[in-house]
Amino acid sequence: MEKFIVSGGIPLIGTVHISGAKNAALPIIAASLLTGEKVVLKRIPKVSDVFTMLEVIGTLGCKSKWQNRVLTIDTSNLFSTEAPYELIKKMRASYYVLGPLLARFKQAKVALPGGCALGSRPVDLHMNGFNKLGAKVKIEHGYVSCETKELHGNRIILKGLHGPSVGATINVMMAASLATGVTTIEEAAREPEVEDVANFINACGGKITGMGTSILSVEGCKKLKGIEYNIIPDRIETGTFVIAAAITNGRLTIKETKPEHNRALLAVLKNYGAQVETDKTSLRISSQKEINSVSIKVAPYPDFPTDLQPPISALLSLTPGNSTIVESIFENRFMHVPELRRLGANIEMLDRYTVIIRGVKQLSGAPVMASDIRASAALILAALAAKGETHISRIYHTDRGYEHIEKKLSKIGAKIKRVLDPNAP
Ligand code: EPZ
Repeated sequence: MEKFIVSGGIPLIGTVHISGAKNAALPIIAASLLTGEKVVLKRIPKVSDVFTMLEVIGTLGCKSKWQNRVLTIDTSNLFSTEAPYELIKKMRASYYVLGPLLARFKQAKVALPGGCALGSRPVDLHMNGFNKLGAKVKIEHGYVSCETKELHGNRIILKGLHGPSVGATINVMMAASLATGVTTIEEAAREPEVEDVANFINACGGKITGMGTSILSVEGCKKLKGIEYNIIPDRIETGTFVIAAAITNGRLTIKETKPEHNRALLAVLKNYGAQVETDKTSLRISSQKEINSVSIKVAPYPDFPTDLQPPISALLSLTPGNSTIVESIFENRFMHVPELRRLGANIEMLDRYTVIIRGVKQLSGAPVMASDIRASAALILAALAAKGETHISRIYHTDRGYEHIEKKLSKIGAKIKRVLDPNAP
């Protein structure tokens, strides 16, 4: 296993180029299965979750090939409609193959994902959605099996206890795109990644409207065709670098991004006292000394994203005054808190969903451990600002979602290196 060693205290200055969005790339790779043809995807980030998804579709019979940054997937010769537990347990998003397989082959069997570091993360909304489209859905021996004679359009409400579901909206939308008739998805997730999958399906010949709103209409098609498609920029990676500029009192130009996808974060940063300028595809951020504590409520898009909650916790740890964060999506999304405390942060958990962060003057380097992708980002950010050296272990979590993060950070002045972790089990 590897770890990062970060020497903090250097303002980050320069230009960063943002990669394609992992959370759009994963479902779009799965949606390629709908076509039964060759699909060419540009700007797919080379992160380990993408490689896991390619392994999943590989076990179904798909061939994929990289040429520089362009990924070609041939979905014409599938020989299996079953995705095994070994891959699903590695990455829950493997579950995205269920909708496309069911739509194209009228049957699919995919291991039921268990819980993960973020909480129990059920998939009931996905299953209810497939059921409403006319599939028989059952759970047996740890697998979800779906079969149907024909999927048909229906009215489906996808809101769960914690609001709309990104995954269920995408999975049901993919299945509905090859059903007969029209499906209306109400309480749909509005995240840009949902919109990107819909745009991909439409480019393949699909008929989806209502993107970016909470009501999607999907008119089923007989066939979708293989195309070339460019994935949207990663708004969570963008946000991580925005916070990196703020936490190091640096000055960054962030390119090949879509600032409109980060409105909630940028509003918080302006409140905090950072200077932010945006145009269509880039943004500039610099951080002043007069900064303010802020209160953040995490909620589905367009509100503040749960995936940036750990990174902003790192920033608020060094912000004078008391900041509060209320998380509303995942029951266990404060795993980074005990690790930030090891670096000197003063964070009190009021309950499972609420923390008060009392800003301290200085963090100091220490050995810490990442528990998920965004917790690892929080630790890197805190380490960039901390005095002395921080050793971050279990960075395979970082590699799941951030492309070449240490190279991008080194280019803007950070002292970060990847080394083998001699103490790893
Ligand atoms: C996606 O997960 C992202 N993953 C997550 O990013 C992100 O944190 C999350 O959306 C929220 O924005 C991918 O896109 C691959 P949900 P997803 O279904 O789709 C509950 C990262 O670090 N729910 O929108 O799994 C669920 O438990 C990752 O990149 C049900 O109750 O999230 C949660 O409380 C981590 N029943 C809420 O809905 C269901 O059937 C939202 O989850 C499905 C979800």
